[in-house]
Amino acid sequence: MKVVLLGYMGVGKSTLGRLLAKAFQLKFIDLDTYIESKEQLSISELFRKKGEIYFRKAESLALQEIITKEDNFVLSLGGGTPVYGRNMHNIMESPGVVSVYLKLNIQTLVDRLFLQREFRPLISHYEDKNEFEEFVRKHLFERQQFYYMADHVLDLTGKDASESLDELIQVMN
Ligand code: S3P
Repeated sequence: MKVVLLGYMGVGKSTLGRLLAKAFQLKFIDLDTYIESKEQLSISELFRKKGEIYFRKAESLALQEIITKEDNFVLSLGGGTPVYGRNMHNIMESPGVVSVYLKLNIQTLVDRLFLQREFRPLISHYEDKNEFEEFVRKHLFERQQFYYMADHVLDLTGKDASESLDELIQVMN
């Protein structure tokens, strides 16, 4: 089984991915962590030292490597992964891959992400929450067209980790 979890920053892709992998006894791979260990730099350092385009190319390469070479995994993407190059098409065209878009309502997302913005280079500079919210609304609006290409959509709004896991397992059956 090959499962790909995608969605905006802060929706809980890695947390839920780890839980799903454990429940199904699959290997868990976090795409950001995979890139960090390959490049020997943190995501923030990669953005700062090599630039976003370098990161996006490394991200596409890492995604391709994983979905072609690995079997039996849960892979949590970065929030931007589905949006660049042919990434989403490669996921959709890869045999046996099931993709799930994890959604959260905008207010929950904004509140949560504002507190977790420090290590996320695209948003770490925001100091004003209203400006931040405006950015997230627009950014998510632009990205959603790619996220909705996933095989399944799961709204996690108001659900704790264990409810989210149950729903994820149901959606995939
Ligand atoms: C990004 C999301 C991040 C990380 C990078 C860029 C994005 O991953 O890949 O900072 O473009 O949305 P998370 O979604 O895990 O925060």
